[in-house]
Amino acid sequence: MDIWMPDAATSLYGIIGHPVGHSLSPLLHNRALRALGLNCVYLAFDVTDLEGALSGIKALGIKGLSVTIPHKQSIMRFLDEIDDVAKRIGAVNTVLNKDGRLIGTNTDWIGAVKALEEEAGRLDTKKVLVLGAGGSARAVVAGLAERGARVLIANRTLEKAKDLAEQFDARWYSFDELPDVEASIVVNTTSVGMAPDLERSLIPSDLLPKYAIIMDIVYSPLKTKLLRDAERAGCKTINGLRMLLYQAVAQFELWTGKPAPVKEMEHALREAMEPDK
Ligand code: ATR
Repeated sequence: MDIWMPDAATSLYGIIGHPVGHSLSPLLHNRALRALGLNCVYLAFDVTDLEGALSGIKALGIKGLSVTIPHKQSIMRFLDEIDDVAKRIGAVNTVLNKDGRLIGTNTDWIGAVKALEEEAGRLDTKKVLVLGAGGSARAVVAGLAERGARVLIANRTLEKAKDLAEQFDARWYSFDELPDVEASIVVNTTSVGMAPDLERSLIPSDLLPKYAIIMDIVYSPLKTKLLRDAERAGCKTINGLRMLLYQAVAQFELWTGKPAPVKEMEHALREAMEPDK
C-alpha cells in the first residue's frame, strides 16, 4: 500500500481557534485531501496571538484557514479583504491566501442551508424559526434570507433578536411567545443542550408536533434533548454534523477548486462519532 508523505511541494491548510484539540475539521479535510490524492495537509493550530499567527501564515505561505471560536469576529480587522457575505454575517470562518493576500469569507451559512435543503427541499416557501441571536444565528439567518425563507427569531435577550431581525427583514419573539409562533422548521443555534447542559431544551415537548423539521447545530451530543424530543413527537430531525460537513465541503471547494468528496467526508465523521451514536 502506498503511504502518502508530505514533501517540499506540499501545501498547508489549517484551523485556528482556542481550544482546537477536539475539532473534527482536520479529520474532515485530511480525509478529503487524501481521497483526491492532493499534495496538501491540514493541521490544527491553537492560537491565542491572532495577529502574530496571521503574519506567520503569510510568511509561511499557508494556503487557507478555517477559523473557529474565539477568532471568527476578531480576525476581521487583520485581513486584507472580506467578502460581502462575511461582512453581512459579521464573522469569518474561512480564509483564502491568494498570492499573499488574506481574504475572509463565511461558509457557515452554506452549511446551514445545505443541511436544511437536504430534508426540506426549497426554502423559499418555508417559515423557519431560529432559536438564538448570537454569532451562529447570524450565519443561519443570513443563509435563510439568501434563500428567500421567512425567518422568525426567538432569543432570551430580546434586544439581540430585534437587532438581528431588523438587519435581515425577519420577525422577533421572546421564548414565552413560542406557543403562538407558526413555523414549519426550527433551528437551534444556542448552546442549550450542549454538554454539560444535556437535559435542557428551549422548546417544550408539547409544542413540537406542530413543526415538521427540527435542526440543532449542536453536535456534542449528536442527539440533543431537543432532537430526542422531536423524534418522539414525529418530527424529522437534522443533527449538527450536517452543517459542520457542508461548511467544510464549501471550504474545501473554495481552496482546491475541486468538487469535495462528500461521501468520504461523511464517512470520516460517522467513524469519529460512532461511540456517540
Ligand atoms: P455563538 O457564536 O455560538 O452563536 P454567542 O454569539 O455567544 O455564541 O451566542 C449564544 C446564543 O445562545 C445567544 O443567542 C444566547 O442568548 P442571549 O443572546 O440571550 O445571551 C444563547 N444562549 C446561551 N445560553 C443560553 C441559555 N442558557 N438559555 C437561552 N439562550 C442561551
